[in-house]
Amino acid sequence: MKGIILAGGTGTRLYPLTLTVNKQLMPVYKSRDLLSSVGSDLMLAGIREILVISIPGSLPLFQQLFGDGSQWGLQFSYIEQPYLGGVAEAFILGCSFLHGEPAFLVLGDNIFYGDGLGGLLLQAARLQQVALIFGYQVTNPQHYGVIEFDQGGRVLGFEEKPQFPKSPYVIPGIYFYDSQVCDLAATLTPSVRGELEITDLNRCYLEQGELQVELLSQGYAWLDTGTHESLHQASSFIQTLEERQGLKIAYVEEIAYQKGYISGEQLYRLAKPLTKSDYGTYLMQLIDDNSYYPIPAKVPALGTV
Ligand code: DAU
Repeated sequence: MKGIILAGGTGTRLYPLTLTVNKQLMPVYKSRDLLSSVGSDLMLAGIREILVISIPGSLPLFQQLFGDGSQWGLQFSYIEQPYLGGVAEAFILGCSFLHGEPAFLVLGDNIFYGDGLGGLLLQAARLQQVALIFGYQVTNPQHYGVIEFDQGGRVLGFEEKPQFPKSPYVIPGIYFYDSQVCDLAATLTPSVRGELEITDLNRCYLEQGELQVELLSQGYAWLDTGTHESLHQASSFIQTLEERQGLKIAYVEEIAYQKGYISGEQLYRLAKPLTKSDYGTYLMQLIDDNSYYPIPAKVPALGTV
């Protein structure tokens, strides 16, 4: 399975912050920026080949941030989305990148947190023959893709931002699709707002009987970051958790180290230039703290690297 991050859009609801900077580069407390946070979801799912899709003006900044990904044991590719063609357009633009492999799509402005998230994503990424999307209960379903159920809880259909939602369950911006995804996306036609809707793609899978919908429990947090208020709330949420637990959320270097994509020596090289910030100090501590994260035997003495 390969990963796609859809990180375009103009972020008009965050103006003037996003007049010069892409919304996905907005900071989320200390875990750097939204894009890294989203990238960490793909890493948790064990995905190492990742395509970033964005508007032409933002791609160079993303490339500056992620490079080719080799510093984290990953492989990044980039492609432009010249116009806002819709979420499902990711599978038109990303078709040659996927090259017939299943895909995990993450929207660049969605943040997820929860005990067991890594396990859930890993399990989902192992699915090869069906599509899997999630449902999450919210108080404002009219702003999202909404799921309609029958009396027995069976999924009947989906509606994109309906005026009168048929349930409080909506579809968050993480989607797992099988190898048919590019062919199915190619059959879609633009909606009245001129976009290839992800909701229509999900409907195709549903009609074929090849869609699983899993409701996320209350133990998971799905945070929107599309407005000043929600971006601030997301940062405060992460800050509260980090300060209370002493754990760090979505530190890509830590995940790469935990997953064994990079060695202790590589982590040291990444952390050293950052040590004037808490972020870098924390990464250094991962190497120092033998009892917590054992140093791989081949790491040279610190200071000699
Ligand atoms: O957040 C989940 C929701 O995302 C789903 O419930 C909806 O079904 C889905 O359509 C989508 O709705 P949004 O209105 O939130 O999508 P938005 O236009 O805000 O775009 C979400 C992210 O994807 C954002 O980071 C911008 C990026 N994007 C979006 C479109 C339409 C692109 O990069 N290119 C696009 O063409």
